[in-house]
Amino acid sequence: MQVKRFGVSLEDELLKKLDRLVENQKFPNRSQAIRYLIKKDLVENEWEGNEEVAGAIVLVYDHHKRNLQNESTEVQHDYHHLILSVQHVHLNHDNCLETITVKGKASELIDLSNKLIAIKGIKHGQLVMSTAN
Ligand code: NI
Repeated sequence: MQVKRFGVSLEDELLKKLDRLVENQKFPNRSQAIRYLIKKDLVENEWEGNEEVAGAIVLVYDHHKRNLQNESTEVQHDYHHLILSVQHVHLNHDNCLETITVKGKASELIDLSNKLIAIKGIKHGQLVMSTAN
């Protein structure tokens, strides 16, 4: 992809904040930090505009709670058209971590995520909102 250059005028204060971000997040340069911020904003807009997006739902739960896995499977089958892959990792004796990779309309992914995270016994759950573009 062709890269174009343009000048950016910033107040001293704001430039200092940008440089702090570059330093804290170890961006190689200001351009990469600005690119990150623009993309972050665009992805937020995609989700707010209910566009086709991609992401991952991460769930941590105790596998001894048998009914939990049945319920989770039930919900996942209701939304099977959104699910690209499911990865199950046994964290330790009790806990499992599942990463469900999803793609589809933002609102549907949020519905799916909310239903999974609300299942009784889920210790932690989070939807990572990313992009398909
Ligand atoms: Ni497991």
